[in-house]
Amino acid sequence: MISLGCLICSCENQNSKALLPEHLTACYEIEFALTKIEESDIKDDSGKEPIADDDADPEDLEVFYPTHQWQALRPGQAVPAGSHVRLNLQTGDREARLDKMDIDSNSFTSQELKKALAKMKESEKAHEEEVKKKFRPIQQLKEEFEKLNVKMETDYEIMDKLISKFNSSASTLDEKVAALYDLEYYVHQVDNAKDFLSMGGLQLVIEGLNSTEPVLKEHAAFVLGAALSSNPKVQIEAIEGGALQKLLVILATEQPQAVKKKALFALCSMLRHFPYAQQQFLKLGGLQVLRGLFRQKGTEALHVRVVTLLYDLIVEKKTPAWQGAELGQVGSTEEKIQQYRQVKLVPAVVEQDWCVVVSKLLALPEHDAREKVLQLLGVLMAFCRERYRGDRALSTALGLLRSEYEELAAEEQRDGDKDGYFKELLGSVNTIIQELG
Ligand SMILES: *[C@@H]1O[C@H](CO)[C@@H](O)[C@H](O)[C@H]1NC(C)=O
Ligand SMILES: *[C@@H]1O[C@H](CO)[C@@H](O)[C@H](O)[C@H]1NC(C)=O
Repeated sequence: MISLGCLICSCENQNSKALLPEHLTACYEIEFALTKIEESDIKDDSGKEPIADDDADPEDLEVFYPTHQWQALRPGQAVPAGSHVRLNLQTGDREARLDKMDIDSNSFTSQELKKALAKMKESEKAHEEEVKKKFRPIQQLKEEFEKLNVKMETDYEIMDKLISKFNSSASTLDEKVAALYDLEYYVHQVDNAKDFLSMGGLQLVIEGLNSTEPVLKEHAAFVLGAALSSNPKVQIEAIEGGALQKLLVILATEQPQAVKKKALFALCSMLRHFPYAQQQFLKLGGLQVLRGLFRQKGTEALHVRVVTLLYDLIVEKKTPAWQGAELGQVGSTEEKIQQYRQVKLVPAVVEQDWCVVVSKLLALPEHDAREKVLQLLGVLMAFCRERYRGDRALSTALGLLRSEYEELAAEEQRDGDKDGYFKELLGSVNTIIQELG
């Protein structure tokens, strides 16, 4: 899961063209995690509704490669951490460039981001100070806006309007979808998500999962997933509000792929770092539901996501990273340990014969997908070894991967990349081959 730290001032929601350029030089002196640039942020004042991108999961984002030059951002592009973004008042474009190198490499693992990381490494830190001087903090900008008598609409006010729009029987389907699409952007922020909850928005999107309109289901799941991400308070309310059952129903029944994709995204956000939800998921037969996705036609795009989710959940339980007072839950460590103990994920995985389901996915052509499959194979090895030992198809697949990655890793090394991506993949393949021994 990618955690999205969307922290964007709402300058672009104002009629900013009426303002003096010097007051708008630097709206975005903010640390971006992986931030999605929404159509709605850059739409002009023509009153057009944002176009809903049916493929806008964080995992799907097109990645923007920052350099030291300002470059215009396209809608939907993801900006790596350490980039700076500004609004160009001449053109109305949002632009970004590279300024820092402190990337949270835990947040994303895709090949593209690795490439982006490699590019970042090439840069120096020299610009940092210079940029700090140039960019003014948000608070100061807000004060300046106030001096200019420009009212900054708060996120709270915006969300309130969007919720009303979504809830109003007078709104058209397109208007409701647009409202959800915009809400998704706001609820990434932890505090906004809490407000969203207290305003009754969370319950509305949970009910939205029941909608007869697939497009509403899809966007409701998208908003839910965003609000749940790393937000224990929302996670608790959502599970009490019945969100888990509804998501599983979506995944278990016939639905358009786009709906399932977003439901899986929301499920993932619901389960991560929330052992109670993981227990409920197992109790409700959630693992069988995911297993069912491998029997349905046309759900291939979801398989790697499922693999990633399982891997993350297994590792999460094993690592003590969740211990301590993280997420502000001081004193709850013992309870959490108890809860994790009751999550019997691996036995269920083995019993449902995921060992074979997973190993078959090595046949996928994308390196990125194989990387995820290899990771999961690595952690399952201890439990699936007997199953794997007699599996000729698996040893053939591993042999082929080994030769392919030996070649690619050698190439990589010739290009001067000593610790490259393919070398890493080769390492994973070799470890598994060894363990099968
Ligand atoms: C949604 O609309 C219903 C009916 O008009 C109203 O009772 C309810 O309070 C609204 N919910 C929210 C969260 O605005
Ligand atoms: C909503 O979904 C639940 C299952 O999650 C189902 O039991 C209920 O009947 C649905 N309600 C409507 C109005 O479709």
